[in-house]
Amino acid sequence: MNQSSTNHEDINYLPFMFGIEKIDSDHRLLIGIFNRMSEKADQKESNDFMKIIDELEKYSNYHFANEETLMKKANFAEIDEHVIQHQIFRQKIDAFKTSIQFGSSTLQSEIVAFLRKWLLKHIMECDAKYVPSIKKYLNQ
Ligand SMILES: [Fe+2]
Ligand SMILES: [Fe+2]
Repeated sequence: MNQSSTNHEDINYLPFMFGIEKIDSDHRLLIGIFNRMSEKADQKESNDFMKIIDELEKYSNYHFANEETLMKKANFAEIDEHVIQHQIFRQKIDAFKTSIQFGSSTLQSEIVAFLRKWLLKHIMECDAKYVPSIKKYLNQ
């Protein structure tokens, strides 16, 4: 699975399906928002780009809350480390929004490249860790 080599290619959500319905539908939607964002960056439409960052921020906060609730209910041992990763993401999105508002030269494609790497790595490496605990909890 090598999805990080090109910058403007859509991410395919299928390899990230864990078999946990709620989480999978969140990830599918989140990746869908990212793919639309990646297309906007190609088109250099800055207003639309800002709108879609807002959408990504709102949806990721909603999804992180879902994950954090499930990890807690499932007594997942590495919850603290996971919540820190979500927090770092929130801060990063905040910083991107500020730099766009203040007319920083932060390129849209740099933001897209960061988000692509972060999403792929986070889902594959961090989210994947809670799968056995949450599946066990949901099957109880
Ligand atoms: Fe996730
Ligand atoms: Fe997560």
